[in-house]
Amino acid sequence: AYVVAEPCIKCKYTDCVEVCPVDCFYEGQNFLVIHPDECIDCGACEPACPTKAIFPEESLPEKWKEYTGLNADLCKTWPNITEKKDPLPDADKFKDVEGKRGDLVM
Ligand code: SF4
Ligand code: F3S
Repeated sequence: AYVVAEPCIKCKYTDCVEVCPVDCFYEGQNFLVIHPDECIDCGACEPACPTKAIFPEESLPEKWKEYTGLNADLCKTWPNITEKKDPLPDADKFKDVEGKRGDLVM
């Protein structure tokens, strides 16, 4: 499955939601996750994300390995999101900032 990693935090552009053919994104306050059992590995979301937050699980950078588990866990309780919406207000400011893990609202 594909995995959403740290760059999405505090941005949430949701372009990924618009292109996913199976609506397998789930929404938190400042992050989205992919349901690993619903993702069909089509790859459409990866190039659509302005922050480059989405990776196939097998090529997730080492520093973001924990996001595989975070996606699998958080998708169980967060609501499904099926339509694109406005990004978070400071998305452009936080787009290229690293070290946002501590800001993730779970
Ligand atoms: Fe959806 Fe395809 Fe991305 Fe999986 S890889 S989350 S099916 S757009
Ligand atoms: Fe997040 Fe990128 Fe989607 S910022 S909401 S993974 S388009």
